[in-house]
Amino acid sequence: MAKGKKKAGGNPAKGEKIFKNLCAVCHSLTSHGTGPALAGLAGTNIAGQDGFSYSGALSGKATLKWTDANMNKWLKSPADFAPGNAMAFAGIPSAKDRLDLIAYLKAT
Ligand code: HEC
Repeated sequence: MAKGKKKAGGNPAKGEKIFKNLCAVCHSLTSHGTGPALAGLAGTNIAGQDGFSYSGALSGKATLKWTDANMNKWLKSPADFAPGNAMAFAGIPSAKDRLDLIAYLKAT
């Protein structure tokens, strides 16, 4: 077995680096900024955080949850997952990078 917090499918330590490089400019884990706080999101409703003003596009997904599959689609192409959403981010092409990032987010 691998050492540390590695989980099946993704490497959270690598995911943390990706988060710092690509996401931290707009997101904190614990407080809302340009984007909503992201800690503990796994399994919760999409656009469900109190105190953040979501776009209608993302609020329209609020009956769905942040499963791994939905998070993977969102991070691959936010514009395809929720057309017209307010996250100015093109997406992460690498499936491995998305897996690592999701593993990191799930560990928060
Ligand atoms: C340019 C700023 C920006 C960047 C960069 C950015 N985001 Fe966002 N993010 C936002 C905004 C704004 C929203 C709210 C979108 C909406 O309401 O349509 C959002 C929403 C989200 C949500 C939905 C949260 C919820 O409460 O449902 C997730 C998950 C998310 N971002 C993850 C990420 C990750 C992971 C990265 C890095 C790969 C990232 N974002 C990069 C601005 C950004």
